[in-house]
Amino acid sequence: MLQRVLVWDVPTRVFHWLLAVSFAGAYLTAESERYRDIHVALGYLMFGLLLFRLVWGFAGTAYARFSSFLYAPSAVVTYVRSLFSQQPQHHVGHNPAGGVAIFLLLLLGLLISVSGLGLYWELGDEDWWEELHEIAANLMLLVVLVHIAGVVVSSVLHKENLPRSMVTGYKTAHADQGIARPYAGLGLGMLGVVAVFLLVYLGGLTF
Ligand code: HEM
Repeated sequence: MLQRVLVWDVPTRVFHWLLAVSFAGAYLTAESERYRDIHVALGYLMFGLLLFRLVWGFAGTAYARFSSFLYAPSAVVTYVRSLFSQQPQHHVGHNPAGGVAIFLLLLLGLLISVSGLGLYWELGDEDWWEELHEIAANLMLLVVLVHIAGVVVSSVLHKENLPRSMVTGYKTAHADQGIARPYAGLGLGMLGVVAVFLLVYLGGLTF
């Protein structure tokens, strides 16, 4: 029987929305000298989030694990084809096409962070880091737009509100498809660490 089940744990949701905010904020402040500190702080935040996600991809709950959305290319093609058929495939966790976008977002995010650090810490050829930083950021924007379009299409096709599930953590599925623990304490801990980091880095808070 179908019911409301928990699919996304709290750390994955906190990661998602902080990643979205840090990327959008860093992109918007990229060209301005005035907002350089904010840009760098959001870059550090994004890097920290991605490092956490790398660990959570192995240690996290079922649908947060990389192995749950690492599909063969043929599965991605079959999934995309099914979207044009009478019976589009449905997945409780990430679908195969979404999985590809997520790996790309994680990789590009890491490339942006590392090149940003290379630039900021003046490690070698500035032009080279800058070029890499900009190309990766623009590619990430493109993948984000495709990701958002994919979320909208999938939500419409399956008549389920995917953005809401990334907020509440719940989807409609069979009882045995849910995850057992939300890890709320860890998610709240992440919010706390991020708040302290931003207050210290941008607000000049000292202990
Ligand atoms: C309005 C903006 C956005 C909405 C509504 C949205 C929505 C979603 C939803 C619904 C999922 C889960 C997809 C599924 O059910 O399989 C998801 C996953 C994801 N999104 Fe977004 N997203 C947004 C912006 C972004 C941005 C800006 C980024 C990156 C900078 C991003 C990166 C990701 C990643 C990495 C995942 C995988 C989450 C994980 O497993 O850790 N999203 N998003």
